[in-house]
Parts: sequence; structure tokens; C-alpha cells
Amino acid sequence: MQFNIINIPKLESTNSYAQQLIESDDLHEGDVISTQYQENGRGQGENFWESEPGSNLLVSLILEPKMIPASQQFVLTQLVSLALVDLIKEFVLTDEVQIKWPNDIYVNNKKIAGILFQNFIKGNEIEFSIAGIGLNVNQKKFYSGALNPVSIIHYTNETIDLNILLDKLLDKIGVNYETYRIKENFQELNSKYILNLFRYKEWANYSNGNNFFKGKIIDIDEFGRLKVKLKSGNENKFGFKEIEFVD
Ligand code: BTN
Repeated sequence: MQFNIINIPKLESTNSYAQQLIESDDLHEGDVISTQYQENGRGQGENFWESEPGSNLLVSLILEPKMIPASQQFVLTQLVSLALVDLIKEFVLTDEVQIKWPNDIYVNNKKIAGILFQNFIKGNEIEFSIAGIGLNVNQKKFYSGALNPVSIIHYTNETIDLNILLDKLLDKIGVNYETYRIKENFQELNSKYILNLFRYKEWANYSNGNNFFKGKIIDIDEFGRLKVKLKSGNENKFGFKEIEFVD
């Protein structure tokens, strides 16, 4: 896959900018919007994504994954998350790098990267996907009160070149995309994703709405839902936003 990096030093948000360009048909598969500073970096839900100028990776990658059925769009989350885990593992050698379902990347109990996907769906086809990736690299202190942020520099103690890092990340996403966008390989991708999952097969505290419970993640189904075993012995499936990790 060929990547075409479009760097703009300051933006409101790489995802919002990418969305505008897609709407005017100015972006295509492999285009990557990259910036050094976002005035209004977007996280999941209403959250703000904190990143001091020039310190971290802030990119939005455009895909046109027409071969992946919209019902299985979770495949995209999985292959981008795994590329990030793979990249971070090259720098964070001693601690565990894992995916907190659905797409936060954690080192132990700390968040090092997040992904904001925006998929544009028509029928059962994903026309465009914006994979917005924020990876904390050289930022040592965080101010926004985000829960437990951490950066690669906390593990390496030396500043990392962001251009080299971006090239490596895109290489890994490219390889995963070529390999795993094919239906026959979805199962293998899911197995890899599960192996890297935070709290897989561990009892932990969760909530859905006002209800708190202990559960154990035992599987992910083909739609990306979390399959959780409860103390009662029952098993429940939870979609995105239907379950929260409590601690
Ligand atoms: C999360 O809340 O975990 C998702 C964070 C995603 C942040 C990235 S930074 C680059 C891209 N542009 C945005 O506005 N957000 C994503």
C-alpha cells in the first residue's frame, strides 16, 4: 500500500480536516493527514485529546476498505490496534503493551495511544474510513486530567523522531491491511487481537449503566462485541458503550 503523507503544522483536528476533504472528494486510500498540534483534538465521545505541540504522533489515515463488509468493520480496529501494539513493543521492552477493548493501547494500567475511527457506510459497504491515531511519544507531563496517560519517552528516556515513527507505523498498518482485509484471515486476526487483550481471562470490575459486576473477558465475536463471563456462570455480550471498565 502506498502512503501519501500530507503534513499541516496546526489543525483543529486531523479527523475533522480529513472528514471535510473526504466530503469534497479530495482524499483517497493511503492519504495520511499529519499535524504537530491540534487545537481541538478529538477523543472518544465528547473527550478532548491532549497533546503538546510537536511532541506526539497525531495522524488520520484514510482507507477505502470496500472489501470489508460494514457489519465486520471491527476488523479495521483490530488491524490498526495490533500495528500500534507491535510498534510500541519495539520501544517499551519491559512492560506489557496491551489493547484495552475496543481500541485503547495500554502499558500496564496506563494509556499510551487512542484511536478514533469514523467509518462512512453505504449499504453494507465501508466507502471511507478515517483512522485517527494519537500516540503519546515525547510528552512528559499531561495537564488535562486524562486518566493515567503515559508516553514512549517514559520508557526510553530519549526523544524519538516522529517522522521515523510514523513511517514504521504506516508500514505495519500496511502489512496488516494487506493480510487481514481478506475474509479468510479475519479469524486469525481476531485470535491475535484476543491474545493482546488487556484483562483477557482475568476477573475484574465492570459496569453497564448503574449496574456494577465482576466479569471475565472470554472472547470477541465477529462484530467486535465483548463476550464476558459473569460470576453466576452466565455469559453476556456487550457492544461498544454498553460496558465500562471500572478500575
Ligand atoms: C481516544 O479517545 O482514545 C481516541 C483518541 C484519538 C486521538 C487522535 S489524535 C489524531 C486524530 N485526530 C483527532 O482529533 N483525534 C484523533
